[in-house]
Amino acid sequence: MKTQSISASWWPSVALAQKTLNGSAKFWYLTVLLGQALFACYIVMFYYMATVDQDIERFNQVMPGGHVQGDFWGNIAVMAHVLLAAIITVGGLLQLIPILRKQWPRLHRWNGRLYVTTAMVMSISGMFMIITRHDKIVGSLVGHTAIMINGIIIVTCAIKAIQYARMKQFAKHRTWALRLFVAVSGVWMFRIGMMAWLSIHGKPVGFDPVSFSGPFLTALYFTVYILPLFILELYLRAHQSPSAPIKLSTSFMVTLIGFIFILGTFGATMGMWLPAIGR
Ligand code: HEM
Repeated sequence: MKTQSISASWWPSVALAQKTLNGSAKFWYLTVLLGQALFACYIVMFYYMATVDQDIERFNQVMPGGHVQGDFWGNIAVMAHVLLAAIITVGGLLQLIPILRKQWPRLHRWNGRLYVTTAMVMSISGMFMIITRHDKIVGSLVGHTAIMINGIIIVTCAIKAIQYARMKQFAKHRTWALRLFVAVSGVWMFRIGMMAWLSIHGKPVGFDPVSFSGPFLTALYFTVYILPLFILELYLRAHQSPSAPIKLSTSFMVTLIGFIFILGTFGATMGMWLPAIGR
């Protein structure tokens, strides 16, 4: 009896725990908004400007397999990939804003169609790049395989999200659309995850920066989409759960991830994106 009354008074109510969970999700979204908006700015200022200047070879300053003389289709795939990268990044951020969904449902639907199509083109062009330029693209076979699996997951989530929207099963549509957003964001999380790691250690630890391989990178390649997809499932279950401790522990985890995103975004902006634009 005594234990029950202590635990009952110690834990906040389920309603308060739910509010905390919602608050942590909002904080998480703001950190994603900040980080992905900066990623989109970098893509526009580097890749779009190089394209406008008709200087595609400039891509090679940041991706060795960017422009290859005489490989027409390979170069088209790279251009489509990097130019659509800004569109998918901004499109995904817009899809998650609840007020846009409620007030402008047509915008949500059209942006959703664009997002899903772009996700498929990004994945197919990315896989094509790996298959045709694996000798020029940084990273090991394990890394390339991990990104290919990420691409397959993106395509699967995109198909499922469309299927459920067409069947008007909106709860399932929402779940698959969230999975799609998380899987797509794996690409951005890889960059900020690496830079958060470098910011913490101050030097490359667990990988070789020249060959771009090593245990840390191998783990990161898979972690950036498997872990977030797993955490999303925990978050969705915590939302449905009547337990305050489950909601609160999930809020704590989501908030912590938000702080890691801030650290990684700072590291990626200062260490990767600003130097590339400034070259
Ligand atoms: C869907 C979201 C994606 C976004 C926003 C995205 C974005 C980008 C960007 C901006 C680059 C240029 C490198 C840089 O400046 O950081 C890039 C390169 C690349 N992407 Fe993606 N990408 C996505 C998905 C994928 C997928 C699913 C694959 C594989 C199936 C893939 C494979 C590649 C490859 C192989 C490169 C070249 C890397 C190199 O040469 O170093 N991408 N991507």
